[in-house]
Amino acid sequence: MPITTYVFDAYGTLFDVNAAASRAAKEPAHLALVETWPDIARDWRLKQLQYTWLRAVAGQHCDFWQVTQDGLDWALEAHGLANDSTRARLLELYWELDAYAEVPAMLAALKASGKKTAILSNGSPDMLNAAVSSAGIRDLLDAVLSVETVGVFKPATAVYDLVGAHFGGTREEVLFVSSNGWDAAGAAGYGFQTAWVNRAGEPVDRLYAKPHHVLSDLTTIPEFT
Ligand code: LAC
Repeated sequence: MPITTYVFDAYGTLFDVNAAASRAAKEPAHLALVETWPDIARDWRLKQLQYTWLRAVAGQHCDFWQVTQDGLDWALEAHGLANDSTRARLLELYWELDAYAEVPAMLAALKASGKKTAILSNGSPDMLNAAVSSAGIRDLLDAVLSVETVGVFKPATAVYDLVGAHFGGTREEVLFVSSNGWDAAGAAGYGFQTAWVNRAGEPVDRLYAKPHHVLSDLTTIPEFT
């Protein structure tokens, strides 16, 4: 079935989640990050995601901004870096993460060929609006869909239901694109066509479904029709 709708995960897929720590590490006020930023960025992301899964399973939803702060607090304490100004700067930068370099041209190519484009993210509406504006890609997206509409995090199927609720159509005509292997697996299990953007060359997740395509970046997405 031809693909009509291209749906992207946000954090890690369109926006570089390591950009906050790597940018802060270049600022004189945050010298402690020079050595530690890759480890802090990794632990921050890992805890942030773990908290989404655990809260979803436990029925204890809060928004993504809360788990983003909670994950950072864990990571900073783990690295002996409980510094208020560094914490504040990292959180500030999370609202203006860099988009990956190929994102604007890739979305523009999809729009030029008449395709529908959207974000489907754990992010809160405020966070997503800020990131989309900061990256200058608002006009290239038909919808920005947040899990806050259903009050549970991915990979709950209620989240993937938001795509059909917004655009109509069948699951098979959606290409869901994520750099998170577990999210690509969740979407494949749901019935979307899926592309996993495996920038880090990681092994495929051993879950209940596998992504249909594995890519190293987003440049070839418009070739999937
Ligand atoms: C998101 C997280 C999973 O944007 O990266 O939904």
